Amino acid sequence: MAQYSRITGTGSFLPPRRLSNADLAAELAAKGVETSDEWIVERTGIHARHFAAPDVSSSDLGVEAAKRAIDAAGLQPSDIDLIIVATSTPDMVFPSAACILQNKLGIAGCAAFDVQAVCSGFVYALTIADAMIKTGSASKALVIGAEVFSRILDFSDRTTCVLFGDGAGAVVLEASDTPGILASDLHADGRHVGILCVPGNVSGGKVVGDALLKMDGQAVFKLAVGVLESAARATLAKANMTDADIDWLIPHQANIRIMQSTAKKLKLPPEKLIVTVDQHGNTSAASIPLALDASVRSGKIKKGDTLMLEGVGGGFTWGAVLLNF
Ligand code: UT7
Repeated sequence: MAQYSRITGTGSFLPPRRLSNADLAAELAAKGVETSDEWIVERTGIHARHFAAPDVSSSDLGVEAAKRAIDAAGLQPSDIDLIIVATSTPDMVFPSAACILQNKLGIAGCAAFDVQAVCSGFVYALTIADAMIKTGSASKALVIGAEVFSRILDFSDRTTCVLFGDGAGAVVLEASDTPGILASDLHADGRHVGILCVPGNVSGGKVVGDALLKMDGQAVFKLAVGVLESAARATLAKANMTDADIDWLIPHQANIRIMQSTAKKLKLPPEKLIVTVDQHGNTSAASIPLALDASVRSGKIKKGDTLMLEGVGGGFTWGAVLLNF
């Protein structure tokens, strides 16, 4: 049985349609909804996001990211023995996006399931894959965050529709003799279900409730700032490490102000903060693997670097994974 698990490949995929803030503001103005590039940049740091075409699903985005990660790891799809997809916007009520994605990869037989922890989904999924590798249930896992949040946005609500985007990111996590994932720390507090939710479901052949995203932005903001610091500190403590050991902080990409405040609390200089929220918006469970892959491919993150990944979002959920890349 492997003592450790380690990321051996990363990949990501963005749907081609990119909307700048000005593009989105013009589309919204046509519907009588007023916003501006200035407001969006100042309050969130977002400049642009990508939206998938109407017939493109989370598994479509996820499979492209997965192929790139498998290729980067020097593997074939048939080598994969576990698939976990973190998503809140699955293709269907069931089966899971992971099973649909497995079929699109042209492989069959390995375990495949979805994890639903909203914007913390990727750190939850990575922690589960790490545990399954360490207990011998898997040896080459594909961990994917894939979302089409544009499908659940209320484009008459300017307080939420300017924040989110679509995309997917993936990693291959393999059994290893050398340390990769060093520690993780996951939490949820169901008392805060109502501050970020899509309060609808399918019943009797109809959508019951509301199938569009609702968020109390300020309540989420306040909680996020506190828990991102505590999760990072708890994870460092488990690994017997300190703030100074972190080479790169990759927080969930929701709002640059939350991310900068977390970096400051961890006494990290701004250069150690990975930022892609400016170009991707908030892609929920896809945001961390998207940011990771972009930074690996640009040459910023190198083999051997110590990374702190942090998720926070609906549930309320949060968590961190500390790893040696
Ligand atoms: O993925 C899970 C994690 N999610 C998050 O981390 C999101 C956390 N929350 C946030 O990022 C911020 O709370 C927001 C970006 C959502 C909002 O920023 P804020 O600084 O808290 O703004 P606010 O909600 O206090 O709104 C300030 C003003 C309001 O106008 P009044 O009442 O002051 O006249 C809003 O109506 O900004 C107005 N406003 C807008 N104006 C132009 C809200 N949205 C817009 C908009 N364009 N899109």
